[in-house]
Amino acid sequence: MKILVLGGGAREHALCYAISKSPKTSAIFAIPGNYGISKIAQCTNIGLNDFESIHDFCKNNNIDLIVVGPEVPLVEGIVDFFINKKIKIFGPEKFAAQLEGSKGFMKDLCKEYHIPTANYERFNDEENALAYLKTQKVPIVIKADGLAAGKGVTVAEDSNSAELAVKEIFSGRFGKKMEVVIEEFMEGEEASYFICSDGKNFVSLVSAQDHKRVGEGDTGPNTGGMGAYSPAPIFTQEIQKQVDDKIIKPTLKAFQDKRCPYKGILYAGLMINNGIAKLVEYNIRFGDPECQVLMVRMKSDLVEMMLNSIDGKIISTNVEWEDDHCATVVMASDGYPGSFEKKTVINNLDKLSNDNNFQIFHAATIYEDEKIKADGGRVLSITAKSNKLENALDKIYSSIDLIEWPQGYFRKDIGFRALKR
Ligand code: AMP
Ligand code: GLY
Repeated sequence: MKILVLGGGAREHALCYAISKSPKTSAIFAIPGNYGISKIAQCTNIGLNDFESIHDFCKNNNIDLIVVGPEVPLVEGIVDFFINKKIKIFGPEKFAAQLEGSKGFMKDLCKEYHIPTANYERFNDEENALAYLKTQKVPIVIKADGLAAGKGVTVAEDSNSAELAVKEIFSGRFGKKMEVVIEEFMEGEEASYFICSDGKNFVSLVSAQDHKRVGEGDTGPNTGGMGAYSPAPIFTQEIQKQVDDKIIKPTLKAFQDKRCPYKGILYAGLMINNGIAKLVEYNIRFGDPECQVLMVRMKSDLVEMMLNSIDGKIISTNVEWEDDHCATVVMASDGYPGSFEKKTVINNLDKLSNDNNFQIFHAATIYEDEKIKADGGRVLSITAKSNKLENALDKIYSSIDLIEWPQGYFRKDIGFRALKR
């Protein structure tokens, strides 16, 4: 099969890596891809919102299957578009993609189907939102009701910052006018859990834990994710059963009832406290950097799983994982998520050899003047698997020591919560 992957981050590099291992794959294409991806896929620059041009590309290259990495094209309806064009595409349709595209939609659906999550209220005007805040305790969580590239959520420790977050959203901080969701603060430890659905049934994938904050000890501003590991030890079999029964199954039923079955990856962000899991958020795609650790742990055929999801045969998928522990550490341009120098040179990547247990996934790399250069915030995702999490992390950090990139930054404490257990 000829497979097209949409996106250009380390998540998409990891997807291309897993796709390249499938016996079903004859060629891989990526839009736009990146330098690392170009080693295993043919990369082409087309805007991910330009569905017509992507369609022309698919026709010219006889693409059999499209895999969408990021959320934005899914929320904009790329799956509906290609279903109409009769090209196989993996992921949820536009209606179901609202689970990530609108926090208000997701919360209302949870309420309707009694799915455990934080209590909340929705507001479309500032005055009522601020009046409501006065009746609530802190900490409290303020969310912009739309895609905000991971920046739309404020966990406010005091009422001033809560008010400020509300005002900022209504004054158009995220471009267009958005509603606000105000949510009860949930205590606990977070974990991510992934399933793959064909609309009716699903297979459980595995758990992972990411580190969203830029600084060590999970401090400082939020980022796209500075590292991850899988499995997440807090996500026990009992928790999984609880989440499957109380969160995943009712969600899939909701979409069946609404005549738009949910197909594709469903990523549940969970808060676990005293043995009880509640839903923090849903994403409609693999996480980045969680995907990197999942793809290195996955033993079975990713392409087969995706086709079974599209064709409504997910229960015939035999999903197998390496029992090992896998971790990834993100190397970013120093200064990220703020401003940083661009086109800095990265040396010695060729001294590290990739294999089944070790992979360097590229996010923002380019090749220029015969050198590999960083061209964005998150740049590399150094990923390793071993019988113990410590050993995987040792391999990652000793490999990073060999990389010569003075303008690079990484966290030295990825996995600290799991290691402390
Ligand atoms: P979200 O984009 O909804 O996942 O929110 C981003 C992050 O904010 C989450 O990963 C949590 O760390 C935090 N968060 C969101 N909602 C809550 C909540 N109700 N209680 C506590 N923390 C939250
Ligand atoms: N790592 C968090 C996300 O992909 O949304």
